[in-house]
Amino acid sequence: MSNLKLSARAGLLKPSPTLGITAKANLMKSEGVDVLSFAAGEPDFNTPAVICQAAIDALNGGFTKYTPSAGIPALKEAIAAKLQRENGLHATAAQVVVSCGAKHSVFNTMQVLLNPGDEVILIAPYWMTYAEQIILAGGTPVVVHARADHEFVPDVAEIAAAVTEKTRAILVNSPSNPTGAVLPPTVLQSIADLALAKGLWLISDEIYEKLVYGVEQISIGSLSPEVEAQTITINGFSKTFSMTGWRVGYAAAPLEVAKAMSNFQDQVTSNPTSFAQKGAVAALALPADEVEAMRAEFAARRDLIVGLLQQIPDVTVPIPRGAFYAFPDFSAYLGDRFATDNELAAWLLESAHVACIPGSVFEGPGHLRLSYAASRANIEKGVARIQSALASL
Ligand SMILES: Cc1ncc(COP(=O)(O)O)c(C=O)c1O
Repeated sequence: MSNLKLSARAGLLKPSPTLGITAKANLMKSEGVDVLSFAAGEPDFNTPAVICQAAIDALNGGFTKYTPSAGIPALKEAIAAKLQRENGLHATAAQVVVSCGAKHSVFNTMQVLLNPGDEVILIAPYWMTYAEQIILAGGTPVVVHARADHEFVPDVAEIAAAVTEKTRAILVNSPSNPTGAVLPPTVLQSIADLALAKGLWLISDEIYEKLVYGVEQISIGSLSPEVEAQTITINGFSKTFSMTGWRVGYAAAPLEVAKAMSNFQDQVTSNPTSFAQKGAVAALALPADEVEAMRAEFAARRDLIVGLLQQIPDVTVPIPRGAFYAFPDFSAYLGDRFATDNELAAWLLESAHVACIPGSVFEGPGHLRLSYAASRANIEKGVARIQSALASL
């Protein structure tokens, strides 16, 4: 009998359909097909030059060695100051753990909070990585569905009803990928009250915090010191500063959790890249108007894509209040021709040469996710292609 087998854990991992569609779209492009992509999960701007320069200076200055696993003191201090200044949190540098992207911070969080069988409440539609990482930590995702006609703001009574003896945490992602939902203060307060009453962790992924349109983003941990004492706030540099490839994110957590995450990271990755951390320090010193210029461009694109999608017959478009995704409902087009949004997305790529992510990926069946991290010209062309393809059915 052979022992040349993979672990059961390896078998748990599902391939990312987002990467699958992106790979297919890229293959078509390389074959000369004019594919317009709404698949991207990253801003299409360059990283601001001062951030790049800080990393170049760090490299040229020999800042190329190991750093403390949880990040260099200057960056942890700058993050703590930012969280205090902008988010109303009280985290100190010792409570900050810098990791290789916010995705890594979410992973560390699940690894240090969950025992096998523990449940984490996710609000669907949700970023699928959460579910995968909960499962990798031996936990079980418990899904509460938010409704499209409520702009994907969940009903907190339904979250309360999903709490069991095994619930350990509620995960909040506002603004949300994939829906763009931004949770209003009253809803955040009710979720926080529930977590306090039941003794649950709150995991708050705030990576899209700066990308809000006419509404306010609130850090749930800022609601009171008691809430903050149960909250792991996760954020990063990828979206706000267009630094997806740099791989720098962070968590701010109660000291005991931060220490556990830091120990965990010691044994898994060690520090995030030294010179990328110097770039991140520069990012936090960036004048606010540079970030605002990117936000304003996204705001204009949001208005454009929502307006265009609303013109497609029988498509309803919940208004995204944040992030850079629209999540329209195409279920009127499902049935005989396409059984699912997966088939619709595959057909749109094949026949209209437009790449979108099927909503089922995020437990939002019937919808498609369209990222508007694309030029205005491509948004106009891409939605027109979708509209005429559907009209030809
Ligand atoms: C909701 C959400 N959280 C976290 C991340 C990961 O960001 P990072 O690049 O910092 O790992 C993403 C990226 O798509 C995201 O959509």
